[in-house]
Formats: sequence, structure tokens, C-alpha cells
Amino acid sequence: MTIEEQIRQAAALIKASERLVVLTGAGVSKESGVPTFRDALDGLWAKYDPMRLATPQAFASNPKLVWEFYEYRRRLMSPAQPNPAHQALAELERRIPTLQIITQNVDDLHEQAGSTRIIRLHGKISANKCSKSCQGDPTPVDVTTLTWDEQHEVPRCPHCGAYVRPDVVWFGEMLPLDQLDEAKLASARADVMLVVGTSGTVMPAADMPHITRRVGGKVIEINPSESELTPIADLWLSGAAGNILPRVLAALDEA
Ligand code: OAD
Repeated sequence: MTIEEQIRQAAALIKASERLVVLTGAGVSKESGVPTFRDALDGLWAKYDPMRLATPQAFASNPKLVWEFYEYRRRLMSPAQPNPAHQALAELERRIPTLQIITQNVDDLHEQAGSTRIIRLHGKISANKCSKSCQGDPTPVDVTTLTWDEQHEVPRCPHCGAYVRPDVVWFGEMLPLDQLDEAKLASARADVMLVVGTSGTVMPAADMPHITRRVGGKVIEINPSESELTPIADLWLSGAAGNILPRVLAALDEA
């Protein structure tokens, strides 16, 4: 089957769907220049292993190093703009108002593109919170209202004085339970799940397409490479999200 035929098939499935859910990963932001978690870090950070920095243990033993790592990633991400993949998903939500995005990404490019129904499994890198959740989990902290010795210090919670940390899920941490429950419910009610730009290697996010399959839903994957989820995909559209998604949207008009 040619990619054009696959795109037409995907559009027909989406058109016929009553409850469309989209699971996105770092691949959807790749064309915006956002390095994925596993992209080689450059310069100063090249010698660090992100997997070892994004942990509660690393923050407990060296809060300043972890805080600087996230400031570095925030600086890397701030110029990023939504790419045609984010824009196509926002347009899809305008056409299918019940569309639900479940994202593993910590950037806010879906919001910037205009998507509004977003379940965030791994948090948001631009947000910060009290590391002790002193006012409840999470206790948001707006660091722009704080002053601290940026050279030597990490900002502290204005309520309790504990260190402030990025509001993202670290390795070994639980996901926000409300978001996880919402994602499982959406996946269990979906009749079509569009999986865009994820290697499908990290649980429980990667379980969502399995949940949809178990209830008889169809899984459509968009990824230039095979992933851990390709074996359960009813359709694998091999290509970049920024190229394929606009073509699926265009095919919707003909479907
Ligand atoms: P990965 O970096 O594991 O996988 C990115 C996927 O995107 C790969 O399968 C690529 O083939 C695909 N890809 C690359 N360019 C693409 C493009 N232009 N269009 C579409 N797909 C493209 O990223 P995730 O699967 O999102 O967790 O990683 C999942 C989680 O692992 C992350 O959320 C993070 C990390 O540990 C936490 O931070 C808790």
C-alpha cells in the first residue's frame, strides 16, 4: 500500500471515529528544534547523562546542578515554535471538538499551536513547584516573583523555604495521578488512537495504545522509524509528523 493510500485510510478511520485520542511524544516537537530526551546534549552538558540528572536523587544530592540543567533545557526550548504537526493537531481539534491529546512532552508547543484539550503525563518544563509540595501536590511557584543568588543558589519556596524544582516527572517518580487516570479513561473510550512521535519505550504512557486496542479501538502510528508500538498499529504511516499530519488533514476533506 502506498503512503498516499495509507493516508487516505487513516483519514477515513479518523472521519468515522466518535472518540479520537492522540498520544504524542518528543518526535512531534523534533521539527520545532526541540531536542528529544535522548538527543546528544552539547557543550557543557555533553558529559552528563540526562537520565541521571532527571531524578529525585540527583536533585537531593546536587540541587544546583539539576536546577542549572533545567535552566539550560528551558533556554534551548524557549525559541521553539509550533511546527506543522502541532498546527495540524490544533486544526483537528477545531474539527473534532472531543479530540483529546495525551502528551509525554514537557514543552508547551501544543498549547502555543492552539490545542486546548491536553492531558500532560510528564509535566511542563516551564513550570516550577515547591520540592516539598508544602501547600499540596503540586504547590506551584512563580520564580519570576522571587529573588535569589542565581550564581550560587537555587530559588526557595516562598511558603516553606524548601528548594523550588521544575514541575516535571523525574525518573522513578509517580505520574500525576489525575492526569494518568484521565489518560487511561480517554484511551479506554477511544475508538481511534493516533500515536505520533513516540518510541513507546516509557510506561505507563506507552500503555495507552494497548488500552485502546483492548477495547477494540484502532491504532494509527505516525513515525519515520518503527517503534515499540508499531507491532500493535493497524496503520503505520512512516514519515515525519510535520509532513504526514497535514496530509492526513487534507485527506479528511476528501474522505
Ligand atoms: P523518544 O526520544 O524516546 O522517541 C522519539 C520518537 O520520535 C522516536 O520513535 C523517533 O523515531 C520519532 N521521531 C523522530 N523524529 C520524528 C518526526 N519528525 N516526526 C515523528 N516522529 C519522529 O521520545 P518519547 O517517546 O517521547 O520521559 O520519550 C518518552 C519519554 O522518555 C519522555 O517523555 C521522557 C523520556 O524519558 C520523562 O521525561 C519522564
